[in-house]
Amino acid sequence: MCGIVGAIASRNVVPILLEGLKRLEYRGYDSAGLVIGNGQSLERVRSTGRVADLVEKSAQTQGQIGIAHTRWATHGVPSERNAHPHMSRDQIAIVHNGIIENYEELRASLTAAGYEFSSDTDTEVIAHLVHSHYARGNTLLAATQATLTELVGAYAIGVIAADNPDQLICARRGSPLLLGIGENEHFIASDMSALLPVTRRVIYLEEGDVAELSRKGCRIFDETGTETQRPVQLSELSNESVELGQYRHYMQKEIHEQPQALANTLESVCNSQSLIPGIFGADAHSIFAQVESILILACGTSNHAGQVARYWIEEIAGIPCNVEIASEYRYRTSVANPKTLVVTISQSGETADTLAALNHAKNIGHEFSLAICNVPESAIIRQSKLRLLTRAGPEIGVASTKAFTTQLAALFLLTLVLAKQRGKLAPELESQYLHELRHLPVAVQKVLALEPLIADMARHFADKHHALFLGRGLHFPIAMEGALKLKEISYIHAEAYPAGELKHGPLALVDKDMPVISVAPNDALLEKLKSNLQEVRARGGELYVFADANTHIREGDGVHIMHMPEHAGYLSPILHTIPLQLLAYYVALQKGTDVDKPRNLAKSVTVE
Ligand code: G6P
Repeated sequence: MCGIVGAIASRNVVPILLEGLKRLEYRGYDSAGLVIGNGQSLERVRSTGRVADLVEKSAQTQGQIGIAHTRWATHGVPSERNAHPHMSRDQIAIVHNGIIENYEELRASLTAAGYEFSSDTDTEVIAHLVHSHYARGNTLLAATQATLTELVGAYAIGVIAADNPDQLICARRGSPLLLGIGENEHFIASDMSALLPVTRRVIYLEEGDVAELSRKGCRIFDETGTETQRPVQLSELSNESVELGQYRHYMQKEIHEQPQALANTLESVCNSQSLIPGIFGADAHSIFAQVESILILACGTSNHAGQVARYWIEEIAGIPCNVEIASEYRYRTSVANPKTLVVTISQSGETADTLAALNHAKNIGHEFSLAICNVPESAIIRQSKLRLLTRAGPEIGVASTKAFTTQLAALFLLTLVLAKQRGKLAPELESQYLHELRHLPVAVQKVLALEPLIADMARHFADKHHALFLGRGLHFPIAMEGALKLKEISYIHAEAYPAGELKHGPLALVDKDMPVISVAPNDALLEKLKSNLQEVRARGGELYVFADANTHIREGDGVHIMHMPEHAGYLSPILHTIPLQLLAYYVALQKGTDVDKPRNLAKSVTVE
């Protein structure tokens, strides 16, 4: 979603800002802009195209202080007039991530005070408010602080003033923002990847912090306005991890990174002979001992990971488990059980609905929270009592791939730890599962070898408009994930059904133009699934089956088989995800879509 970069330096900051915006492109955006200060005035350049267009438009722009932004439209259509930075009377410029909920009343009072609005955004009120306080003789810091007391909502902001080329002010509440520390130069960004070319030294701002940056240093004030110190950390993010390398798209790169991402995520357990709750945090043992049920909250792909985990948790650990879409849960009247462990799953750790659902759960009386997340410094991690980091590395492609399979690995660990603590995991089984987890990266690598065959299969989908995905049991959520991948990046309408439900409706849609893709693991439901596939064939439906060895599903007229390796038991959903990711990827290539940045979608959905 929206991205922020800002810089104050003794050199021209325009290339730094533009490079930063390029690195934030993966979050999804529909317009971009920057404002540069030259000591007397502010120069603004905005574009509704890609950052590359902004690069062209700002070729002549130079200055030693500036703020820049990629916008994903919420209030007001994607257009140049709605693109950030927003300005007030050519004096104040601001960039903003988040949503200002009381913007309508602020807009009315600012209009009454004589301010003219030139956009439909909620953000513009911030620019005028800062201006109104600054015009009364406050410093830029004090004017920003006064403004923040009037805002209701979530924000990360960067502010500069035309007549103050020596200060950049920023603040955060509800949206992430960090400071980059250089040699006599300082930066702000919503995401560390934006700053990697200029610094690795970073300060993560806390909720309610306001910071004043100059070339020489930075001062940070907490939410009470008291000057405070925050630790300078060295970012571990490497440049290679956010660069494309030999791959055509980030999605392809990230699909291929899965063996390593899984190995990294499982590192802490794979070197030991037994599982301990401590991998989830110091209090895990005592919290798990009290837990009576599990509630999983997540959105999108992360929600699918939760749905797989429900099967594992109930079957292996014997604990009742519910999974809810975070955006629904947060507004539903539900009954809290303080002995429920609330598990949030999020790649970014920033998703607004998941964060709100976590806070809602706490407000209604849930005490125990555990986050499974890919970003160590994220809000979800900080707001949860227990956590396990997936160590997938930065995921740039909007369609989640390696984050999903590492979430599954982390959730399987959670299942095993809970089962063990309840006396439901015999030592032989524990060793067997640990062995299977250790083998997982190699098993995934073998499935990746199917890539050329899947690329070939994808050609059948080039002229299709709809697709049906079938799965059963543990693999029904994998069918959902396969359908989500296909629709996200190829724009083919795709739906997933538990195969047994076929005859209750979707069978009516099946004909030669409706490809039916089925996940066919060699598990207890195989024979049932085979009958469901017969139902499809009998109606002339074209079948694409991802079948484990020894399933005895035969290739034939209208039946295309992709042969998977041996059945991987409980870990099978991880292996069956890989070919569906590859299928979506190659179908999208056939369709010529923007694979890494599908239309209308964003990587981190930081608004409701
Ligand atoms: C967006 C992304 C998805 C992701 C979902 C949840 O929709 O495009 O890939 O699954 O948000 O994001 P999270 O960061 O919470 O896992």
